[in-house]
Amino acid sequence: MPNKPQMAEDIYILGIESSCDDTAAAVLCNGKILSNIVATQKVHQQYGGVVPELASRAHQQNIVPVIHQAIAKANIGKKDISAIAFTRGPGLMGSLLVGTSFAKSLSMGLGIPLIEVNHMQAHILAHFIEEDNFKKPEFPFLAMTISGGHTQIVKVNDYFTMEVIGETMDDAVGEAFDKSAKILGLPYPGGPLIDKYAKEGDPKAFKFPKPKVGGLDFSFSGFKTAVLYFVEKQTKEDPDFIEKNLKDICASIQYTIVEILMDKLKKAVKETGIKQVAIGGGVSANSGIRNALYDAEKRYKWQCFIPKFEYTTDNAAMIAIAGHYKYIKQEFSDFSTTAQARYKI
Ligand code: KG4
Ligand code: ZN
Repeated sequence: MPNKPQMAEDIYILGIESSCDDTAAAVLCNGKILSNIVATQKVHQQYGGVVPELASRAHQQNIVPVIHQAIAKANIGKKDISAIAFTRGPGLMGSLLVGTSFAKSLSMGLGIPLIEVNHMQAHILAHFIEEDNFKKPEFPFLAMTISGGHTQIVKVNDYFTMEVIGETMDDAVGEAFDKSAKILGLPYPGGPLIDKYAKEGDPKAFKFPKPKVGGLDFSFSGFKTAVLYFVEKQTKEDPDFIEKNLKDICASIQYTIVEILMDKLKKAVKETGIKQVAIGGGVSANSGIRNALYDAEKRYKWQCFIPKFEYTTDNAAMIAIAGHYKYIKQEFSDFSTTAQARYKI
């Protein structure tokens, strides 16, 4: 392990994210963004989902230019970096290995500490990036992480003391969006497109079933099947059904998914008595869930924390802020650390 540093006056953290299909690097100084670069891989679009082998190859191509760009845009030299934070997991093994190996080598080469970060904790800690006019949650708060790979409700007691109190038993909510979109013939990732069409549609036009799952857990596999059967039945009667009703179908799908999420969040608030609610992950960009939370602020007096769009989908600023708080605690990793495809909060 590199020598523990003297605590520098200014803490510069280089964050590296490569868990799925975004190669990202960011530099933060004392928690403030100096640069935040993301190279989103387009190669997967033609396959309708992320192809792991292609993702790791693209990470290999992207990682050097992305990190170069992040350091250049931050207007610092490599010598200024206090520590390197990287995503250890969860994610795709081949993708994680690229970021992990690169972070280790750079840390070794520069003789600065290495900090491993849990991607799901980072989605939550994105709320602690220093921004003007942005309020941070206070501990304890509830966080709902909703992405293409995860759906969790987490009780956040402290920066790194988190408890999963509900999670999906099968598909993630992002998959419910993306698979529904695929059934409608929309390209991957379909979540943002459903959101776009939903804005002009009638959310009550079609009724989709909500799963009956106990406690604070979720299930989305039945929902996707219900959308498939519905679309198959309707297109048998009218081959142009999707084309004629796309906006209404999207609005109805989004309405149901948002209701499923909000039902569980309300239950979590009731059970824990915590009224501070944060969201994170790709699906937190969705206008339906954002509006539902704004509404809950007024209706139930919750205090909601909704991330800026650039911190919703995968990014390295969130990895760097998690690294920043570990740096303050002097919690460093040694070179024996390995990528972890499954990595609990
Ligand atoms: O956090 P993220 O970038 O990657 C994972 O860790 O999975 O999340 C990607 C997911 C995809 O399923 C994508 O369709 C979904 O986030 N997503 C959205 C929206 N923007 C991204 N889903 C619904 N509405 C959106 N506006
Ligand atoms: Zn993510």
